[in-house]
Amino acid sequence: MTKLKVGVVGCGSIARFRHLPEYAMNEHVEIVAVCDIVKERANEMADKFGGQAFTSYEEMLREAELDIVSVCTPNYLHAPISIAALKAGNHVLCEKPMATSEKEALAMIQAAEAGGKKLMIAHNQRFVASHEKARELIANGEVGRIHSFRTAFGHPGPEGWSIDGKDSWFFRKEEAFIGAMGDLGVHKTDLMRFLLGEEFVEVGSFVESGAKENSTVDDNAVCILKSESGIIGTLAASWAYGKEDNATIIYGEKAVLRLEDDPDHSLIVHHRDGKTENFDLGKIQSNEDGGQTSTKVIDHFVDSIVQDTEPPVTGVEGMRSLKVVIAALESSIHKKIVKITQ
Ligand SMILES: NC(=O)c1ccc[n+]([C@@H]2O[C@H](COP(=O)([O-])OP(=O)(O)OC[C@H]3O[C@@H](n4cnc5c(N)ncnc54)[C@H](O)[C@@H]3O)[C@@H](O)[C@H]2O)c1
Repeated sequence: MTKLKVGVVGCGSIARFRHLPEYAMNEHVEIVAVCDIVKERANEMADKFGGQAFTSYEEMLREAELDIVSVCTPNYLHAPISIAALKAGNHVLCEKPMATSEKEALAMIQAAEAGGKKLMIAHNQRFVASHEKARELIANGEVGRIHSFRTAFGHPGPEGWSIDGKDSWFFRKEEAFIGAMGDLGVHKTDLMRFLLGEEFVEVGSFVESGAKENSTVDDNAVCILKSESGIIGTLAASWAYGKEDNATIIYGEKAVLRLEDDPDHSLIVHHRDGKTENFDLGKIQSNEDGGQTSTKVIDHFVDSIVQDTEPPVTGVEGMRSLKVVIAALESSIHKKIVKITQ
């Protein structure tokens, strides 16, 4: 079997803890190129995972023979690198948030369609076992009609994660475009769309900054969302939580689901009749686990290429989740409820 040849652009934390180890474990692929503008980082990853080290993605796309490119760079480079890689004839797995605008996201989707290549966005929250189980229970009608939810993703901030620590691009608007809402909030807009199986139509929000020094991006946000069937809920995204919170609660007429809210049970179902079911489905990946868990993103992406199926998180899905975040920013700036058209 000929293996798919992979090039990874950006050799920071997400590449070294998730993409590269997960490609290395996948039997269908071979890492042939790694790229980072910091030469030592590219060299270090090439030594560890194999492949040729590059400091320019343009050069990598010209010189390396590739089938797949993973985009693991700061957010402002997602669209230009993904589009260049797609135009060069590669399938692309791009990190979240997909892009810095709807226009850029559309250009990425069009580049994939024009070249007949796969584009997947790395929304790994969809593959967390408790989330998959909750979606199944909701879709099967076991939760009943849902009226409300609350979801949060907060931790002490990317200075404890990014390879550049407190000097990271995560804190610079020109490179990040948004802060906690783009880093964490978009995970939850995507998760809630996935779990509820419907789109959000309105959002009101406070997207604030001030928790971090030397930062030009937002770091603490609370949004109120309304879905097309009228479900209302809150979404919080913050770099100002002293300890990680990744919990989601869904309030249905037949059951309440508590996802990643309990240290011992990844999913707790409180049934209306008083019965409680605990599910232990394995741990959610966390900045605090040092990359001990698999995101399953790479396996799903590679499978979609090997089996020639649609990737589980398409460019269109990534764009829809991004649009909710962009609308939340608009709401906070203009102090009004913003309508979202998908
Ligand atoms: N899916 C997730 O759960 C998850 C988690 C963390 C980060 N991310 C995303 O992954 C992306 C990267 O984040 P990170 O945490 O690895 O950041 P990081 O700061 O740890 O690493 C970024 C790397 O990109 C390199 N880089 C910058 N410009 C480059 C260029 N022009 N060409 C090549 N390399 C370049 C930097 O030198 C650095 O090594 C971001 O979009 C982030 O939002 C996703």
